[in-house]
Amino acid sequence: MKGRLLEGKKGIIFGALNESSIAWKVAERAVEEGAEIILSNTLMALRLGDTDTLAEKLNTIVVAADATDIDDLDQLIKKAMEHFNGKFDFILHSIGMSPNVRKGRHYSDLDYNFLDKTLDVSAISFHKVIQTARKNDAINEWGSIVGLSYVAAQRTFYGYNDMADAKSLLESIARSFGYIYGQEKKVRINTISQSPTPTTAGKGVKGFDHLLDFSERMSPLGNATAEECADYCLTLFSDLTKKVTMQNLFHDGGFSSMGMSLQAMQQYDKSFEYDKEHPFD
Ligand SMILES: NC(=O)c1ccc[n+]([C@@H]2O[C@H](COP(=O)([O-])OP(=O)(O)OC[C@H]3O[C@@H](n4cnc5c(N)ncnc54)[C@H](O)[C@@H]3O)[C@@H](O)[C@H]2O)c1
Repeated sequence: MKGRLLEGKKGIIFGALNESSIAWKVAERAVEEGAEIILSNTLMALRLGDTDTLAEKLNTIVVAADATDIDDLDQLIKKAMEHFNGKFDFILHSIGMSPNVRKGRHYSDLDYNFLDKTLDVSAISFHKVIQTARKNDAINEWGSIVGLSYVAAQRTFYGYNDMADAKSLLESIARSFGYIYGQEKKVRINTISQSPTPTTAGKGVKGFDHLLDFSERMSPLGNATAEECADYCLTLFSDLTKKVTMQNLFHDGGFSSMGMSLQAMQQYDKSFEYDKEHPFD
């Protein structure tokens, strides 16, 4: 499916590490819909991942930036304005990382230096990106900034650990900055709360396969894929959603509104049948 939804639009996409990254799919779809884009990721990710391959495929450039580093971000925004010959229209923040999750630290035994890092990389970097873009007056009126979140910001998911706190902060930043940037320049800021998705970051979450299966059974429409998430991101970059701002938008097949589904209940019942047959196993 190719169209012209984003014809004339330009933007920066953070976080395409490899083919399974959500940002990778967004970049591909944005270009298919006529957008001009720039990719950005950390130096380390550029060394270890496949971002350059994507840039080649999409005939664009990659600018290295650590999204927690203001100088890096300032240079990136200035380079983007040079590349685009002026202001641009959208930013995708598709960035997340928790050293506590990586090192298997339990939520009741967090390393607080790690927690600082989790919050800085996964949430405060959203503020830093927006603040740097605004100070450079880099975004056109009716531009759009999107961050990616998860329902653990509202509800407890064992294993999601301190990333839940980071996502709550991320969503709050979308509201707080959305007011300021909206009033001043009509720039909208939203987060998309996506289903569990098998990516490098996703698979790092404890019990990820079970989580994926559980939410598939709980969601009337099933889990949303990375490709489907990309399509949703595109609608938010487009002019079709000009009055949507300061929202956390669930893109999860209905999961967030469910209590219990028939499929999940059937699976739950099966575990009791198993218990009855093998009471001592
Ligand atoms: N995969 C899921 O289940 C899922 C569900 C909901 C939301 N999300 C969110 O989607 C976003 C993208 O994750 P993904 O699932 O595509 O995984 P991914 O691992 O492909 O992407 C994460 C990206 O963050 C980048 N990154 C890490 N530290 C950075 C830094 N300091 N500066 C700049 N970039 C940095 C990584 O290099 C990588 O490209 C994240 O915010 C994630 O929390 C993922």
